[in-house]
Amino acid sequence: MGEKIAVVTGGNRGIGLEVCRSLSLKGYRVFLTGRDASRLEKAAADLGKLKAPVETGVLDVSSEASRVAFASWLSERTTSLDVLVNNAGVFLDEHYGGTGVPPALVRETFEINVLGAWHLVQLLLPLLKRTPGARVINVSSGLGAMSEMSGGYAAYRVSKVALNAVTRILASELEPSGVSVNSVCPGWVQTEMGGPGAPLTVEVGADSIVWLATEPVIPTGRFFRDRRSIPW
Ligand SMILES: NC(=O)c1ccc[n+]([C@@H]2O[C@H](COP(=O)([O-])OP(=O)(O)OC[C@H]3O[C@@H](n4cnc5c(N)ncnc54)[C@H](OP(=O)(O)O)[C@@H]3O)[C@@H](O)[C@H]2O)c1
Repeated sequence: MGEKIAVVTGGNRGIGLEVCRSLSLKGYRVFLTGRDASRLEKAAADLGKLKAPVETGVLDVSSEASRVAFASWLSERTTSLDVLVNNAGVFLDEHYGGTGVPPALVRETFEINVLGAWHLVQLLLPLLKRTPGARVINVSSGLGAMSEMSGGYAAYRVSKVALNAVTRILASELEPSGVSVNSVCPGWVQTEMGGPGAPLTVEVGADSIVWLATEPVIPTGRFFRDRRSIPW
């Protein structure tokens, strides 16, 4: 079997960086992407100390032009894609509930957390469909589980509900072509987003994502946490 290829969005820090590190150590050729070239350089340098070779590519998932340019750039470098990890995300409404969150903030959250991931799958489908066992992993959140839905963090919650819907729609449509699509909640993780009170290390947060990326056979259209299927 040839080399395995992975693309990770928002790979320059937090859970995404840890996923890049782990996949690289497992022998994947990793495209670590992020919206800022200097932050990408820093991330690559951090990984370099581990001698884990990765390639960096600029991708602002909120920009359609950037998504299109990245897909074209990637297709010049690889003819297959085993894993797409839609990890990039923002949590902009820590201090708002559904009754007060400004529409502009909801729109910005959607552009990144929903449209960014969704359109990227569309653009990279030719590569994914060409690759046996290809998989899309959407990094979601328990805050987007309808079964646990409550007040607060409304833009973030609704964006992850929408991302979960995208997971199920694409999983259903892509099942015949063998591309799996799943959502995963990493848990509450010690990153800039998770904050200092979070109980989990990035290694633990990345675990289920890396497991879904590397497990030989996985289901499709599910929501996972701690390597287990959880209710939507
Ligand atoms: N931490 C938690 O407790 C937790 C819990 C549940 C789910 N999650 C999910 O896990 C994922 C990763 O979160 P994290 O905790 O690692 O957060 P983080 O430390 O804040 O990192 C977020 C990453 O997303 C990138 N990003 C933001 N906007 C982007 C854009 N427009 N284009 C490309 N990249 C962009 C950031 O890049 P910059 O450096 O350029 O800003 C950064 O690399 C997110 O989807 C998040 O919703 C996290």
